[in-house]
Amino acid sequence: MRRKLAAGNWKMNGTGASLDELTTLARAHPTPTSDILICPPATLIHSAVKVASDTAIHIGGQDCHADQKGAHTGDISAEMIKDAGATYVIVGHSERRQDHNEQNENVRAKARIAMDTGLTTIVCLGESLTEREAANTLDITGGQLSGSVPDAATGHNLVIAYEPIWAIGTGMVPSLGQIGEVHDFIRARLERRFGPGVGRSVRILYGGSVNPGNAADIFDVPNVDGALVGGASLKSADFSAIITALEASI
Ligand code: PGA
Repeated sequence: MRRKLAAGNWKMNGTGASLDELTTLARAHPTPTSDILICPPATLIHSAVKVASDTAIHIGGQDCHADQKGAHTGDISAEMIKDAGATYVIVGHSERRQDHNEQNENVRAKARIAMDTGLTTIVCLGESLTEREAANTLDITGGQLSGSVPDAATGHNLVIAYEPIWAIGTGMVPSLGQIGEVHDFIRARLERRFGPGVGRSVRILYGGSVNPGNAADIFDVPNVDGALVGGASLKSADFSAIITALEASI
């Protein structure tokens, strides 16, 4: 039985005052039946961990460098994220792949060091609109899956997030059938590569314009084990409604 996961990605949003949203969220979900994760910007990880201590909320980073340490101005390492008290990290988000030209090989190295450091690693995959329209979705996501996920993956240290690029921040969402097709495909690929035990235990999140209005339907799709939520995770009321929908789907 996979424990569901509601993950919020604040992206480049938030200052100290935003931590009030975290406090409100924690109060609304004192004993959740799913895992709840907030990934604030790196500057807020340490204080978010403090605010979330003694609550059920996990804190994560949004990216880490592939190297353990060294001369990489502006980057942060997996160890720094862990040292700040976080337990998860996102790697390979499409905004990183696009803004920083990150390739599968680099994402895989980041995931590897994150796993070695003991962080649960959310590896993001997803096709562009052009790739979807050319019927290349499964080829692209399959290639990203094999290229970006290290061999060290287990059900404990790996989470996959399927995030069609064209659905991120646009209000456009694939049909439930399209979501189901990709999630079933990812599940089958994971089982083939890692065997049924590990393959069935990795959680697969959907991400891209999830909101309180569409969450319940998305969570009913088989092999959707939760969501990676951007915009709607910034307001605790919206994210709370998504968590409630997730827990109702269990
Ligand atoms: P969105 O972002 O919910 O704002 O579409 C999702 C994501 O990029 O993780």
